[in-house]
Parts: sequence; C-alpha cells; structure tokens
Amino acid sequence: MTRFAYFEGAIVPIEQARVSITCNTLHYGTGCFGGLRAYWNTDERRLWLFRPLDHYRRLLSSAKMIFADIGHTPESLTDVTVQLLAAEGFRQNAYVRPIVYKDDGVFRVQLHDATDKVAIFAQPVGAYIHAAGLLRVAISSWRRVDDTMIPARGKLNGAYLNSALAKSEANKAGYDEALVLNQDGHVSEASAANVFIVRNGALVTPPVTANVLEGITRRTVIHLATKELGLEVVERDIDRSELFVADEVFLCGTGVQISAIGEVEGRVVADGAEGPVCAALRERYGRIVTGRDPAYLHWCVPIPAA
Ligand SMILES: Cc1ncc(COP(=O)(O)O)c(C=O)c1O
Repeated sequence: MTRFAYFEGAIVPIEQARVSITCNTLHYGTGCFGGLRAYWNTDERRLWLFRPLDHYRRLLSSAKMIFADIGHTPESLTDVTVQLLAAEGFRQNAYVRPIVYKDDGVFRVQLHDATDKVAIFAQPVGAYIHAAGLLRVAISSWRRVDDTMIPARGKLNGAYLNSALAKSEANKAGYDEALVLNQDGHVSEASAANVFIVRNGALVTPPVTANVLEGITRRTVIHLATKELGLEVVERDIDRSELFVADEVFLCGTGVQISAIGEVEGRVVADGAEGPVCAALRERYGRIVTGRDPAYLHWCVPIPAA
C-alpha cells in the first residue's frame, strides 16, 4: 500500500497528492515519467534502490525535451526517493514512479511557459507480467512512434498511448506482450521493455536510433554481457523474421526485469526453454539489484530503516 508521495516539494500523505481535472498533462500527455525499482534483500532485511541517478538523469533528459524545468538534480531526486522509501518502510520489492507534469489549465496545447511540477510515489510490487513460464509475444499491427513524431528515447506520457494500443491488442489476442516494429519494419521494442536476441553467439539489440526508450536495464544488460560474460554485443537493426530463427529472444526493463520469450507469433523460440545467455544475465541481475554483488554496489542505494 502507498502511504506517502513527494508532492509540491514535500513528502505528504498520499491522499493530499491530488491534481485538478483541468491539469494540462491529463488532457494532452504533456508530461514525462520514470520507473525505478527498489529490491528487498531478504538476508540483510534491507531495501536497495537500483540505479536511481541514471533513472533521474533520463527523467531530466525527458523533461528537457518537453521544456520542463523542475529545479531538481539527479542527486536531489535520489535523496527525495530515499526519504520517501524510508517513510514507507516497505519490506518487499517496490516500484517507484516519478512524474513531471504541467500543472496548467487546458486551453493551451503547448509545452513552453508552463508550471512544471514533479511528484513521486512508490508501491509494493511482485512480478510485472503475470505469465506462467516464458512469455508469448505477438508482433503488433501498431508501429512505434518515430522520432519525427514523438521521441521514443524519452519517457514521454503522450507516447504511451502507442504502447497501450500495442499491449491491449496483444493481450486481447491472448499474448503476454507485443513487439512493435518501426516505420521501416525493423523491430523496435516491446510495449514497455527493450528487446535482445542471441544469434550465432552474439547478443543483438536495436540501436538507440531505432525509436527505442534508452533503457537503464538495456544498458545494464549490455554492460554485464560484455564485461561479465565476455559476449559480443551488436547494436543493429533486427528484422522481424530474425525473431523466428534466433537462438534466444528476451525482454529487459525495470518492470519486466530480464524475461525470456518462448514464442513469437506461434513460432517457438529455439527449443522453447529459457536460453543460457538470458539465464546467466537474469541470475547476475538478481544478485546485483539486491545489493549482493560488491562489484556493483555503486549502482545500488540502501534505504535506511524507518
Ligand atoms: C517503452 C519502454 N521501453 C523500454 C523500457 C525499459 O526501460 P528501463 O530499463 O529504463 O526500465 C521501458 C520501461 O519502462 C519502456 O517503457
């Protein structure tokens, strides 16, 4: 349960964190947001916040794209989040949602000269995609927003209608997730996760110029694959049909974490089981995010007990 929010410069009871029905961002999607995870380490009985500085750097980059100035730094937003999580006192994994919004009325479809605000709240979470076993994904009939329309590299509220259309279409057709193609027909990403495939021993993912969110988990996976697993990582366009013949396909993101895909539109991926690269990355990731790997404690911020 969520008890508090950072709202208008203070940590307040969640009931007090309210915006008006006239809020500009509610009408036009003129905001940006983030999504972080804090992990409960059951041995230490301690909560660890994963890569907050990187998440808040991206939030501020997204804010810049929409002319939003919230008077914060990645460090100050991290401090606020630590205070918020300490106040909540969660004893389980939690998801943290910062949102930057324009607290102006509706009679201006513009981004500049606005009243920019930031709010943050957190809530306990379990698994994000409630799928038994490996994910079954569809290829969406929707195309990814292009950088000439809405920048996908930022986490911009309005662009999530594109994600939601793809996700609902996939779910209603009985799939767990959607993979979305770019205008040119190459693979971009899932509705809220980046995608990797393994082909001929190399890890392949679309480049950041392929209308993908510049994912923090994506960056983590690339780092771990090269530095820890000694794999070659190639950032290049991925054809739709490569998904059918890949040795492994998996998603990564703060929500989905690292999750293997077992089927792409009726084609079983390899032998249908989680592949060794995905398994090795998932296992490393799990240790790192819970503060269990001393080499990566610089990515993790401990939350003091309430
Ligand atoms: C569209 C999209 N792509 C990728 C990601 C993964 O990004 P990250 O690893 O920073 O959570 C997300 C995360 O929410 C997303 O919404």
